[in-house]
Amino acid sequence: MKTKNIIIFDTTLRDGEQSPGASMNAEEKTQLALQLEKLGVDVIEAGFAVASPGDFDAIRRISDQVKSSVVCSLARALDNDIKVAADAISSAKFQRIHTFIATSPIHMKYKLKMTPEEVIKKAVNAVAYAKTFCNDIEFSCEDAGRSDIVFMKEILDAVIEAGATTLNIPDTVGYRMPSEMGAIIKTLHKSVGDRAIISVHNHNDLGVAVASSIESILNGARQVECTINGLGERAGNAALEEIVMALRTRHDIFGEYDTNININEIYHTSRLVSTITGIEPQPNKAIVGKNAFLHESGIHQNGVLKHMETYEIMKASDIGFDINSIVLGKHSGRYAFKDKLTKLGFHIKDSEIDKIFVRFKILADAKKEIFDEDIRALVSSEISKVKEVFKLITLQLSDCNLGLANAAVTISYDGKEVTDAAIGNGTMDAVFKVIDRVCNIQGELRDYKVDAVTKGKNALARVMVKVIFEENKSIITGHGLSVDTMLATANAYIDALNSYFFMKGGFKN
Ligand code: KIV
Ligand code: ZN
Repeated sequence: MKTKNIIIFDTTLRDGEQSPGASMNAEEKTQLALQLEKLGVDVIEAGFAVASPGDFDAIRRISDQVKSSVVCSLARALDNDIKVAADAISSAKFQRIHTFIATSPIHMKYKLKMTPEEVIKKAVNAVAYAKTFCNDIEFSCEDAGRSDIVFMKEILDAVIEAGATTLNIPDTVGYRMPSEMGAIIKTLHKSVGDRAIISVHNHNDLGVAVASSIESILNGARQVECTINGLGERAGNAALEEIVMALRTRHDIFGEYDTNININEIYHTSRLVSTITGIEPQPNKAIVGKNAFLHESGIHQNGVLKHMETYEIMKASDIGFDINSIVLGKHSGRYAFKDKLTKLGFHIKDSEIDKIFVRFKILADAKKEIFDEDIRALVSSEISKVKEVFKLITLQLSDCNLGLANAAVTISYDGKEVTDAAIGNGTMDAVFKVIDRVCNIQGELRDYKVDAVTKGKNALARVMVKVIFEENKSIITGHGLSVDTMLATANAYIDALNSYFFMKGGFKN
């Protein structure tokens, strides 16, 4: 049987990033892109270049560094979007521009306020213009799931003529059932033939994105668009790891199809995405959830011990999950540390390892056993940092007495160190108040989350805060990491403050 290669188009850095709270800085995106390349992803949608200077910069950096995957930028069907996208990917070895316009009656009438003829004209112009920059052009019919099939055939014929090489059929609002998606792809595949590759892009609003992607493959789609951990707007996108593992595990029925994914990098990639975005997959999430390979009930444990296949259809080790992840201790050297970072999917320059290694040694003094998760948390807290304007030097707390607590800090700012103290209704309140006072700002705490990075009483505490500062209405996220929860809290708040100043444009990354 001849194997049909399914192109894996990963959009974690673009559609995934549109998930609330998942925004990443350029360094974080670059780290992730390099890991996606190691995972064997064929096309990396690195961002939406025109959306912001930060997106543009991240796509540029990814284009400079990724060598074996195609690097792609999204662009609306507008000349300026396309020009900026082309600019952002210009240094990539393999380049793709992905342009789109909505084709459903509801989007054309209310969002675009355009007739179907105008939409076709705009799509053709966009593809023809994109073609002047590179050969590999993808065109998407936004909201294809609710578009008229006869109209889609017409627009697809027109964009093929203009030079489109991949035609993407997104179920933008996750409306279609797998059988319906399969039927749409079958009709379009028949009409397009081998003039272009048909791609699918399913959202998970009704929980069937992966099933719809697989049904589309069976009906002629040769590219699937997906994200790690199923990250994405609303209920997310189809999860890469689920599609890939379904094809592998059910080789008996999908043997005809395969991907270039290196499945033993799945676990590291999933953890990297969660650590960087702070969004954990649900514990019972297929393939990468915390419980995906755990057997709690006695009957299951008994069965698995006697013969693994009684209750397991895949091995955790196949996706790179290593249960014995105690790694390094305080006597570990720089070489072992660097090797570990590479195995965990980080690509840190030699010049930057020293700083992280110092933090690792401090942690190793405070904590006997260091797990992979500790290292992931440590490195990602380092790469998520914007330039530190404010830096916490010391934090002192007094006992909480009859509800009143006292916090004193020394914070450095602009080469000066300022010390002050404040009283609050509880320790956390006192910490936030004294930081506000020293930094001369008013922050409004919108969300606070603390979790233990690993098991054990002396586990690292990872704190996430969401804050609104002064007149600026956008919610800023900050992260802090320490074996001491209050220290992690103070650092998370200061991290948010630094991001706020960075956003205001005062400081460069
Ligand atoms: O869901 C969607 O329609 C998209 C397109 C931009 C491809 O993400
Ligand atoms: Zn989408």
